[in-house]
Amino acid sequence: MLKKLALASAMVLAASGMAQAQSGPNLIETRQVAFALLGGDFAGINAVIALKGDVKTLEGRARAITRYAAIMPSLFPQGTAAGSNTKALPEVFSDAAGFQKAAMAMGAAATKLADAAKAGDAELVATEAKAVGATCGACHNAYRAK
Ligand code: HEC
Repeated sequence: MLKKLALASAMVLAASGMAQAQSGPNLIETRQVAFALLGGDFAGINAVIALKGDVKTLEGRARAITRYAAIMPSLFPQGTAAGSNTKALPEVFSDAAGFQKAAMAMGAAATKLADAAKAGDAELVATEAKAVGATCGACHNAYRAK
């Protein structure tokens, strides 16, 4: 009896695990939304710089970009190369190490941006924001369809 119960619950667990895999988040749409938010966020950062606003307010947003950089590659697992109008080029999946490096470059630049913001150094913030922008462009050139 106990054995049967244990077996039955193991089967239920396995079945719910399978159901979860099937009904989990759509990673292509998840990453597209994250990038759309990132694009808006980075535009906002640049607007604060252009309008000579308080650069100290940019620290948290820059740190969030660093955090996104750290998890970004995990949103591109094998099997998500097609569908949902993805613009990810095949190179994302065939050169995962290079893609990871490009994400880490954005993270490192965003950390410098956050540190400059924390210090309240507007000139340095402008320089580091340009550097972050360069990492967006570098990755898009190599890994995103036009
Ligand atoms: C490591 C590579 C990489 C970096 C770094 C990167 N991107 Fe992207 N980005 C991509 C890829 C790949 C896509 C396409 C994703 C898809 O369609 O599945 C994308 C898509 C986008 C999109 C379109 C989102 C949509 O579907 O509407 C925007 C906007 C964007 N990125 C902005 C940025 C900005 C701003 C930065 C820098 C702050 C940045 N990205 C840095 C790889 C990168």
